[in-house]
Parts: sequence; C-alpha cells; structure tokens
Amino acid sequence: MSTYLGLDFSTQQLKILATNNDLEVLTEVFVQFDTDLQEYKTKGGVHIHEDQLTVTAPTEMWVKALDLVLEKLQKQDFDFSNVAAISGTGQQHGSVYWKNGSSKILENLDSSQMLHEQLKDCFSIKNSPIWMDSSTTAECKHLEDRVGGAQSLSDISGSRAYERFTGNQIRKVFVNQKQDYDNTERISLVSSFAASLLLGKYAPIDHSDGSGMNLLDIRQKKWSQQCLDACGEDLASKLGSPVPSATNLGPISSYFVTKYGFKADCQIVAFTGDNPASLAGCRLQRGDVVVSLGTSDTLLLWLDEPLPSLEGHIFINPIDDDAYMALLCFKNGSLTRERFRDQFSSGSWEKFSDQLRTTPAGNDGNLGIFFDVMEITPAIEGQYRFDFNDRMVKSFLPAQEIRSLIEGQFLAKRYHAEKLGYQLGPHTRVLATGGASRNQEILQVLSDVFQSPVYTLDTLNSACLGCAYRAKHGISGNTSFSEVFRNPANYKLAARPKDVDYDVDRYGRVENSLFNIV
Ligand code: ADP
Ligand code: XUL
Repeated sequence: MSTYLGLDFSTQQLKILATNNDLEVLTEVFVQFDTDLQEYKTKGGVHIHEDQLTVTAPTEMWVKALDLVLEKLQKQDFDFSNVAAISGTGQQHGSVYWKNGSSKILENLDSSQMLHEQLKDCFSIKNSPIWMDSSTTAECKHLEDRVGGAQSLSDISGSRAYERFTGNQIRKVFVNQKQDYDNTERISLVSSFAASLLLGKYAPIDHSDGSGMNLLDIRQKKWSQQCLDACGEDLASKLGSPVPSATNLGPISSYFVTKYGFKADCQIVAFTGDNPASLAGCRLQRGDVVVSLGTSDTLLLWLDEPLPSLEGHIFINPIDDDAYMALLCFKNGSLTRERFRDQFSSGSWEKFSDQLRTTPAGNDGNLGIFFDVMEITPAIEGQYRFDFNDRMVKSFLPAQEIRSLIEGQFLAKRYHAEKLGYQLGPHTRVLATGGASRNQEILQVLSDVFQSPVYTLDTLNSACLGCAYRAKHGISGNTSFSEVFRNPANYKLAARPKDVDYDVDRYGRVENSLFNIV
C-alpha cells in the first residue's frame, strides 16, 4: 500500500505528515527551530535585525532540519520504501541564493554525510530574507514606478508591491550586494529550495507560490519581463521557468534512497507556498473561506477570475491551474496572541480561554487593535484601545484585553474580506486551521464575529496534509484534483454563531481613523 508525505518548511518549524493511500493521516513529526536547532539562535524561527525591519532565517538551519525530521520519522520505524510521492510547502516569499557551482554539489550528495555539512558553503547569501521582512519600501516604490503604478503592477502580478514579495527582496540584494548577486546561479523560493534538496537538483518555482513575488504575470503564467528588468539583471535565468503546481518533477535524490530507504522511483511533486497548500488541504470550494491561524493569520478564498486590487493578493490556484485564489495576510497573528497570553493570562492558554469564556461577546463596546509589528493589512503599527464611545483609552481590564485582541483580529479579517467583495454570513463555511485553531474559545469568537459556522479538520497542519494530497494528485496523470479526491472532506463542526451583532462598519471607521493618528 502506497503512502504519501507532505512537508512544511514553516516559520517556526519543519513538519512532516504521512498518509496512507486513502489519504488518512498515519503520523506527524516536527523539528522546532528554536529548541531543536539552538545553535542557530533563532526566536520564532527567525532573526529580527537591529533596524527592526530586516528579518531573516539561516538557510543552513532549514537544510539541517530536513535530516533531523527524517531521522525522527526513522525512529518511529516508518517504512520509507512505501512512499510513492512527496510534495511540500514553505513559508511564502522567502528566498534562497545558490552560489555559482552549487548545482554540482547538489547533484552529487554523499549519503555518509549530513546534508548541511555538504551544502553549508552553497549559499551566496547565508541568511534568507523571509516574509516578515519589511525593509524594502524603496524597492517597492521603484517597481511600481517602473510598471506604471500600483494598480498596473497588481493587474500584472496579482498584487501591488509589498515589502516581503520576493522581487523586491531580490532587488535589495542586487542594489546592496551586487557581488553576491553576481555570484548567484539560482534563486529559489523556500518551497522550491526544499524541493531541490529532495530532488538533488534545482527544482522549478510553481505558479501558485510564484504569484507571491511581484514578478509573475498571473494571466500569461510567465515571468513579466518588465518586472524582472526592474528587479535585477539576468533574472529569468537565475529563476528558471515556472511550472504548474501539480508538476511531477521526477524521482528523489539517491542521497535519501541510500540514507533512509526511500525507493528509487519515489516521485517529487512541485512544492508550493504554505497558503496555497492549506487551500489544497482544506479542499476549499467556491464560497468557503479558510482562516489559517499560524505564525501569520491568513484568509483564503477561491476565485474563478483574477480581480486584482490595491488590497490583498491574487495567486494562481494550486489545485487548478486555470483558476485563482485570493489571500489576505495579517502579520500580527500567533506571536501577538502569545504576548497577550504572557502579559494578561500568566502564560497559560487555559487561562486565556477562560477569559474569553467569561467575557461577553462584543466586550461591552471595548475595541482593541494591536499591531506589535508593522501590519500588512493595513500598513499600521501600534497599540490602540477604544471604549464604547470610541474614546481612546490606555488599558482595559486583563480579561477585556484578551477579548479585545481576539475580536479585533477577527473584525479586521471580516472587514477586509468584505472590502474585497465577499459577503460572509450563515451561508459561509469557515474552515479553521493552524496552531491556534486548537483553541475552542478562539473558534467561538471567530464564529460569532463572522456569524458563520466554523469547521476544523483532523489535523491542524492543513498545509502538510494538502501536500500529501498534492503528491498523490501530481502522480495521477491528467486527472483533476477533484476527481482524485471524490470522497467528502472530513470536516468537524467546531462552533456555531451565537445571536450577537458585531458592528463591522464601526471597526472599519476606527481602523481608518488610525491613519490620521500614526
Ligand atoms: P506555523 O505558521 O509556524 O506553521 P502553526 O500553525 O504551527 O505555525 O501555529 C503555531 C502557533 O500556534 C504557536 O505560535 C502558538 O501561538 C499557537 N498555539 C498553540 N496552541 C495554542 C492554543 N491552545 N491557543 C492559541 N494558540 C495556540
Ligand atoms: C503570506 C505570508 C505568510 C507566509 C508565512 O503572504 O506572507 O502567510 O506565507 O506563513
């Protein structure tokens, strides 16, 4: 009986999930970067630099994590020889810079040594810029100016220029580290970099993750020459040609066959971004919304036609290359919730949940907006509290602080989704995933604010699960994703909305007023 693996190179950890041929979860293991790889001294999997804007992660740490996570699976006596196919995912937008000559090393890996020992000198930039970086405002302006403005760039690439989008990150390297740029033969996304490790050669960037770069023409499904020219020199050859997300890239590198016992014809299916992978894992259908509560919070929606605007992002759909998806990303997700837990709930999620349970929906009109770091949607930073009269106040009672954070986070999601034209309500199926979706009280607030039923999956790791699905889809020839997965997805009803009325317009007014304060 064949098995499938889904890998997720996410911000704080590398996770791996195995399924059987019926796509039922067999096992999940993970490597936590901060604790399992302490030598890289990350916090939350990243390094925030002195300017507070530059955020990177050591590329070598991700390489080492791959051997560690496979060793953990080996300790469970996992039978690698049954794996028919592997796919995977990574945090979106992050970039890896392979030094000239590295492809030879990648193609000739020696299974008697660890991967990181062999690849440690292969990166011209040792610390990969990641999605939390917001240091490229000048590069964003340059790109928008070169293509005729923010809306023109959005019409081409699905998004106006965003600091974390890879084209702008590449330009920063091109302008400030020209020698390193010239010494780079290949630029990968975190997803295609991870696929390259397993494939033992450079893996192409897939259409869906490639849409998060401000470089891909999302209608033509080719790099936009105009955008490439604005971000660097000779960029098309450094990026390679993008491919549909379900592409079977070929057999696994012999390194993994010898070291772990994979069979030689185990196939590697193109890796994609974590949000597209979650869309696959949740088996999103038209009208559903995925709310992913991980390091970042995201909202995912299915689109038949791209309608790019100045807010949110449009990506090529990872399970149907002719369709699209919309993404709204909120940077202040789990890490802000953790800070509130530590400050107002004595570091305990149980107490945090109690505080949500014992405070009334609507929080007696007390509304909070908390952006510990510069938010993406909207681009504002700071802590703002308003009482029922919309007067700014300095603090709430501890339990009100907790409720104001969670209600504020979900009001923001509803407000921005409705701004994009999505009507949420009792007819909407909300599929919740990510680490914080294990918290029942958080899901109840989500259900109340959206006035929609909330469902969960068997696993919190929808991105990993989506990749196990994508692995099976990728080796099934021309069959469509929905034909491969005919049986209904295994959702559980987690929360039903209470009869409460949230004033989304008030939230919008208050959020907009912040632009005059900051
Ligand atoms: P990633 O984006 O790295 O994949 P995950 O989806 O694994 O992240 O989510 C990790 C986060 O889940 C942690 O940062 C933590 O804040 C959050 N989390 C874990 N347990 C709970 C809980 N009981 N309540 C709320 N949040 C939780
Ligand atoms: C999406 C985004 C984040 C990362 C990390 O645009 O920046 O969601 O993918 O999860």
